[in-house]
Amino acid sequence: MPDVLTIIMRWLHISSMATLVGGILYARLVMAPAIAALSPESGKALNNRAAAAYRPLVIAAMIGSIMSGIYRILITPGHTVRYHVLLGIKLLLVLHVFAVALVICKPDNPRRTRMMTGVVISGLCIIAISAWLSRIF
Ligand code: HEM
Repeated sequence: MPDVLTIIMRWLHISSMATLVGGILYARLVMAPAIAALSPESGKALNNRAAAAYRPLVIAAMIGSIMSGIYRILITPGHTVRYHVLLGIKLLLVLHVFAVALVICKPDNPRRTRMMTGVVISGLCIIAISAWLSRIF
């Protein structure tokens, strides 16, 4: 029988990743252009409401990905130096995504759209590195 905890943790990692990277990708590429068509006051109000509603999801996704990521590291010991170098690069990018995701959820952030562009790029790089990690030891 497959290890139930490992499946749950993999689900948690993928769901957290989808919430964080997918949520910000949608906000940057779909919501931001749509909000830009509104009047400045309405756009600002909608942006702030959306940011406040997204904040608890960001925090949950951060906790979920850290827990499930650490679990994955602990259950698969004995990797090569190349694996650890790539994992290190991934974790630096993860720190960037976490930090910026918290900042963009603050109200009245005039740099929100530009910051989201950076998170989308880092997030897609993280997913690419993770796909690579799953193919090497
Ligand atoms: C923005 C946050 C993160 C994203 C987008 C992300 C994305 C991913 C993806 C897509 C996978 C492949 C999932 C699978 O095939 O099961 C993965 C695997 C993994 N992640 Fe993450 N992750 C994030 C955070 C973290 C954190 C915080 C850690 C460590 C504390 C971590 C450690 C790992 C490990 C060890 C693997 C397994 C790699 C392997 O197959 O050997 N991840 N991650």
